[in-house]
Amino acid sequence: MDDAGKTTLKQNKRRRLVLFPVPLQGHINPMIQLAQILQVRGFDVSIIHTKYNSPNLSRYPQFIVHIIPDGLSETEVSTSDLTLFLKRLNTNCAGPFYDCLADLLSRDTDNPPIAIITDSIWDFTQAAANSFNLPRIVLRATSVCSFLVFAALPLLQEKGYLDNLDSKREELVVELPPLKVKDIPVFESSENTYQLIQQIVEETKKASGIIFNTFQELEEPELFKLQETYRVPTFSIGPFHKSFPARSSSLFTQDRSSISWLDAQAPKSVLYVSFGSLATMDQRQMNEVAWGLADSMQPFLWVVRPGLVRGSEWLEMLPNEFLAATRDRGYIVKWAPQQEVLSHPAIGGFWTHGGWNSILESIGEGVAMICSPMFGDQMVNSRYVSDVWRVGMKLEKGLERGEIESGIKKLMMGREAD
Ligand code: UDX
Repeated sequence: MDDAGKTTLKQNKRRRLVLFPVPLQGHINPMIQLAQILQVRGFDVSIIHTKYNSPNLSRYPQFIVHIIPDGLSETEVSTSDLTLFLKRLNTNCAGPFYDCLADLLSRDTDNPPIAIITDSIWDFTQAAANSFNLPRIVLRATSVCSFLVFAALPLLQEKGYLDNLDSKREELVVELPPLKVKDIPVFESSENTYQLIQQIVEETKKASGIIFNTFQELEEPELFKLQETYRVPTFSIGPFHKSFPARSSSLFTQDRSSISWLDAQAPKSVLYVSFGSLATMDQRQMNEVAWGLADSMQPFLWVVRPGLVRGSEWLEMLPNEFLAATRDRGYIVKWAPQQEVLSHPAIGGFWTHGGWNSILESIGEGVAMICSPMFGDQMVNSRYVSDVWRVGMKLEKGLERGEIESGIKKLMMGREAD
C-alpha cells in the first residue's frame, strides 16, 4: 500500500474510548446508553466493568468488555451502608483498573484509547488518567441541580445548616432556593459520606469535561451557574434514554406481565409506583405506602423489589387485608420494563423516589409525578420536580398514608382526598 493509502486508512480509523461505569443500576444504565450513543457517532468503545454486577456479554457484541476484580465480599455487596460500599469499591478497584488500562494501552497500539469516561463516583480515575497522559471525562449520572447542592455542602456545613437539622426542616436554604433544609441530602453515616462527596466533587472538577444526562431546557440556570463557578467544559447531552432504552442493561428480569396487565386498563387510569433499585424502607413505612395506595382507590402497578423492605424476601410483609382490598385494581411485580410502562397509554401518573433516571424517563413521556425521596440526590431532584419544573408534587411528610392518599387522588383525579 502506498503512503497516500495508509494516510486515508488512518484518517478513517475509528477512535477508541474506554468507559468505566459504577456497578449500580442507576449508574450502569446511563453509562451503557452513553456507550451506545458514542458508538453510533463513530467511536469504538471498550468498557471496563467490575466483576460485581458484570453484564451479560452477549448483550453487548458491539463493545469490548474487560472485567476487573473488585474484591468485594458477600457481606460487602449486601451492606445497606452505601458510603461504605462505595469507599470499598474505590479502594479495591484502583489497582485492577490501572492494570487493565495499562494493558489496553500496551496491547492495542493500533487503536489505543484516546480518553476515558468514568462515573464521577470513581474517585481515583483522574490520577490514573494523569499517569497515562489521557484525558478523563466524567459522567454524572444525576442532575446538575443536585451536583450544585453536593458541591455546596461545605458551605452549608459552615453556615450551620447541618446542625440540629430537625429543628429547622421547613426553613429555606437562602443560598440555594428553592431548597429547604429538609431537602439537603442526608445520609446515615454522615461524616464519612460528606467526605466521600467532597472527594468526588473535587475529582470531578479536575476532569477535562463533565457529561450530564440532562438537557439545556430543563436545567439552563443550573448549567450556567456550574460553568460560571467551575469552568470545566460541560456537555448536557441527555436525556440518553430517548436515544437508547435501558432494557439491555437491566440487572433484574423485567416482568413483562405488567404490560399485559396494563393493556387491560383504561387510558390514564393507572398509577405506576417504583422506588428504584437501591432505596429500602422499614415495615412501618411499607404499611403506610400500602394503605395510602389502598385508600386512594386508584388502580396501580407497583414494583416491590425483593429486599425493598429491610429483612423481607418479597411480599410477606404486606398485610393480607391490603392484598384482599386491592386485588381487583392493583398489580405487583418484582421489576418492570419501566420505560415501556411509562409510555403505556394506561399510565396516568408515577409515584417515584426521585432517582434521576426515573425523573428523566417520566418527563420524557409527559407523565406527572409524586415524589417520595429517600436519600441523596433524590431530595434535591424531588424539590425541583415540584417547585421548579412543576411536573409533579413532593410528599412533604415522608411516607404517611393520609398525605399519600390525597397526593394520589390529586395527581390522578385532579382533586384532594375527601
Ligand atoms: C440511583 C440513585 O438512587 C438515584 O438517586 C441516582 O439518581 C442514580 O442512582 P436508582 O435508585 O436505581 O438510582 O434510581 P433511578 O435513577 O431512577 O434508576 C433506576 C433505573 O432502573 C431506571 O432507568 C429505571 O427505568 C430502571 N427500572 C426501575 C426498571 O427498569 N424497572 C423497574 O422496575 C424499576
